[in-house]
Amino acid sequence: MTDNQPMTSGLFISFEGIDGAGKSTHIEGLAETFQQQGRRVTLTREPGGTPLAETLRGLVLNQAMDPLTEALLIFAARRDHLQQVIEPALARGDVVLCDRFTDATFAYQGGGRGFDLQVLQQLEQWVQLQDGKVRQPDLTIWFALDPAIAAQRLAGARVPDRFESQPVAFFEQVHAGYAARAEQAPQRFIPIDASQTRHQVWQQLTRALIQRGKLSIVVPIPKAFQTPSP
Ligand code: TYD
Repeated sequence: MTDNQPMTSGLFISFEGIDGAGKSTHIEGLAETFQQQGRRVTLTREPGGTPLAETLRGLVLNQAMDPLTEALLIFAARRDHLQQVIEPALARGDVVLCDRFTDATFAYQGGGRGFDLQVLQQLEQWVQLQDGKVRQPDLTIWFALDPAIAAQRLAGARVPDRFESQPVAFFEQVHAGYAARAEQAPQRFIPIDASQTRHQVWQQLTRALIQRGKLSIVVPIPKAFQTPSP
């Protein structure tokens, strides 16, 4: 093995779910846990993860635009993110933990906004092409939650962006969009019941990763959990 080749192969995990499903603490907790197990972690998010993609995120979340423009900007951000951050990190053997990826586009732009799924599929294949294959996460942790409960959790929490300010009916469609993607890729998707307490959700998550051989031991509760539960 030369210096250029990673000792361990990269692992790409994305985290999905409607707004209010409670992904953030778990992503931080997993980053801590993988590091404790000796892995190098790249923690990132979409839209965003590079200076250019973060600029595009600001536009997409705050400025009115037509659905095709929205989809194109999100995929442009994704292209930059893949090239600058995700692919290099996987090539050096990192665990890449990405807060949302393309399933969010199918759920929000496809399900929520009703945008043409075939166009999204074309963009996905075009933008994510890597060494002759379409890059996808190895695993996708889906925080599944009833949109009515998510709305209660979000109420008054912060100033909502263009998506968070949508009515519950929008999130019902986003949820259905995620369910459709999960059905198409059952090996990749790990559905988590996000209505449970934070500790129960953490247990579901870590058990699923241990079962798949991605975490090696029963993991302690991470420091990220020392903040009060939402
Ligand atoms: P989110 O990931 O929830 O971050 P924060 O917790 O800081 O609000 O917000 C990103 C928003 O972008 C979320 O409402 C979903 C939306 N989004 C899309 O509509 N399409 C996409 O492809 C992605 C990645 C996100």
